[in-house]
Amino acid sequence: MSSLTLRRLRLNQHIRELSADIHIDYKSMIQPLFVVEGIDEKESIPGIPGTYRDTIETVIEQIRADINAGITKFILFGVGEARACKDFNHGFTAKAIETIKKEFGNEIWLAVDICLCASTEHGHCGILNDCGDHVMNDPSIEALADEALTFAKAGADCVAPSDMMDGRVGAIREKLDAHGFQKVVLMSYSAKFASKFYGPFRIACDSSPDKGVQLKDRKTYQADVFNHKNALACVERDIQEGADIVMVKPAIHYLDIIREISETTTTPVACYYVSGEHALVEAAAEKGLIEAKDGHIESWAALSRAGADIIITYAARYAKEWLSS
Ligand code: PBG
Repeated sequence: MSSLTLRRLRLNQHIRELSADIHIDYKSMIQPLFVVEGIDEKESIPGIPGTYRDTIETVIEQIRADINAGITKFILFGVGEARACKDFNHGFTAKAIETIKKEFGNEIWLAVDICLCASTEHGHCGILNDCGDHVMNDPSIEALADEALTFAKAGADCVAPSDMMDGRVGAIREKLDAHGFQKVVLMSYSAKFASKFYGPFRIACDSSPDKGVQLKDRKTYQADVFNHKNALACVERDIQEGADIVMVKPAIHYLDIIREISETTTTPVACYYVSGEHALVEAAAEKGLIEAKDGHIESWAALSRAGADIIITYAARYAKEWLSS
């Protein structure tokens, strides 16, 4: 009787590679990009080193570098200077999309986040009532559908609503189809939780929902972290309303949700390894406790094992290099 039984498959890199059942592919990854109006040069973002608040000029350079690094799928967050309570102006983000698509055309696939949190004065993802204690659903979905149409016209390949209002997927799909944008993919942030892990992102977009109104968090529209069935219901509903891809967000803390959805639907499942989750790894690395690269690769492996088809990650631009060494 050999003393080596299961360890035989771990004895060297060759046999480990041959027996691996998790294969992470940089081609399944989406790189987030931030483009910000009114800044002269790109700015770093605390917690997500290597990702920047870009100008339109620097985002073009960034995308060129990313293409050279093997990354061709992006999700864009536009942060315009204009802030309002209704009648939003998305001109800056539309201009960024146009410029990017003019430069790169179909060499890249460009998803654009659809939300109002970077457009409202208060930072909420929708339109507030007069006393500022409730996000009004139906006026918000109308504004979101208008935003999606603006970005589709500008050349977005995909629109990705992240607001968590009820009925926005159907409203956006209907509006896009009515204007001839049947080819635009709809990736819905479906199981999106009212998480505390969005901190660095909110700094990047100046979108914290606590600016001088009564309602100070997103708990009345994002899914409760203690109610996973409600999040699963959002996924079912979004698929019925026409979502082409559904997303789970955050990702690392919701592996069970990724698993459950991937086993019960034929719709592709994306997950968003969010800024605060990314920052946990980076903070530990900064303290010399772990290597950031190793932490991110192990996180990606967990997401893939849980059943994610698509991984949105701030380190996508390093994936090809990291995974081939
Ligand atoms: C906008 C939006 C958020 C994220 C993506 N789209 C933040 C929020 O809901 O406040 C978070 C992404 C991240 O943390 O990396 N609604």
